Amino acid sequence: MKVLVVGGGGREHALCWALAASPLLTRLWCAPGNAGIAEVADCVLIGAEDVAGLVGFARDHGIDLVVAGPEAPLTLGLADACAEAGLRCFGPSAAAARLEGSKSFTREVADAASVPGAAWRHFEDAAVARAYVRAQGAPIVVKADGLAAGKGVVVAASVAEAEAAIAEMMEGRVHGAAGAAVVIEECLVGQEISFFALCDGETALPLGAAQDHKRVGDGDTGPNTGGMGAYAPPPVFTEALRDQVMAEIIRPTLAEMARRGTPFRGVLFAGLMLTDTGPKLIEFNVRFGDPECQALMPRLRSDLLAALLAACDGELGDFDLRWADLHSLVVVLAAHGYPGAYAKGSAIRGLEQAAAVPGVQVFHAGTARAPDGTVLANGGRVLGIAGTGATLREARDAAYRAVDAIDWPEGFCRRDIGFRAL
Ligand code: AMP
Ligand code: GLY
Repeated sequence: MKVLVVGGGGREHALCWALAASPLLTRLWCAPGNAGIAEVADCVLIGAEDVAGLVGFARDHGIDLVVAGPEAPLTLGLADACAEAGLRCFGPSAAAARLEGSKSFTREVADAASVPGAAWRHFEDAAVARAYVRAQGAPIVVKADGLAAGKGVVVAASVAEAEAAIAEMMEGRVHGAAGAAVVIEECLVGQEISFFALCDGETALPLGAAQDHKRVGDGDTGPNTGGMGAYAPPPVFTEALRDQVMAEIIRPTLAEMARRGTPFRGVLFAGLMLTDTGPKLIEFNVRFGDPECQALMPRLRSDLLAALLAACDGELGDFDLRWADLHSLVVVLAAHGYPGAYAKGSAIRGLEQAAAVPGVQVFHAGTARAPDGTVLANGGRVLGIAGTGATLREARDAAYRAVDAIDWPEGFCRRDIGFRAL
């Protein structure tokens, strides 16, 4: 089977790494990829959002399966364009990808499916939104309705902070058109979990849960990032909770999407808050998490390619996913300055020593290779070091041993990944 993975971050490296182990695979491409992905796939210079370019490449090369990593190509219609061209694509149609693209759409679907979540309201008028916030009081959550690169959410501790967020989003348009409307939500309290389900439109199989670390600094301080580390499985997420989430959140959502004529195929990523009154939905994404994927893939014992094909072909009902009885923990190395401005082009050394630590996988995110072979930083999040072990502590120790083998003065990482569970 010939496979094209779309994207070029740590998540896509983990997907390529897992796909490369499949006995079904004959050749693997990745667009655009990165220096680490280039070790397991042929990287092609097509942007992840160039839907026409991706479909053209897939047609010309007889690709059997296109695998979308990030959400952007899906919201732009990659899966639809593949279907039109007679190509198999793992990932939802643009209509189903609205679960990530529009927060108010997600809340409507969730309400129709009786999914437990925060009380919410949608506003297109800033004055009305302000009046609602004053009536509700704080804490309260203000969200830009559209895609805002993960930055369109303000958890406001005071009414003044919520009003400032409304002004910035709706009047200042700091997130552009994404802020034309806002969703205002009840603030949920508890531990936050990322849960993943593999879906074929009708059937969903649990891919497991992970806990992400969104703040840049130790002890969950500083600005939000795309994710500075993750571990799986989170000890707070019991089997009973998993079954509850499948029954109350994932399956009803899948049924509601099918009822609307827009069945969901792909990875449904539920951001959950484990509250005192049970797990509640914060948001859906229509893809694997990054860096959660880098924590999940080392635990997968089934053939990822076979699983993705079964999801595309509506055959998950007969499929069984197996997982290793292992813990995994991923530490992200980022360029100084991230999530703000950072420099590119610094040399990263010690990658082989890091990869030689037992139980460790080095996943590349923003990296490129210089003509002399040196790996260079080429993004904000640059590496994801995954450690595995019989316990979470062993996984963490392996990951940090590998981190310490890396010689990259221009980078940094959090030193406390997994602290909630350790
Ligand atoms: P989102 O972009 O929807 O993932 O939101 C970003 C972050 O804001 C989430 O990861 C949560 O930590 C927080 N958040 C979003 N919605 C809520 C809510 N209703 N209650 C509490 N925290 C929230
Ligand atoms: N790590 C969170 C995300 O991928 O959205």
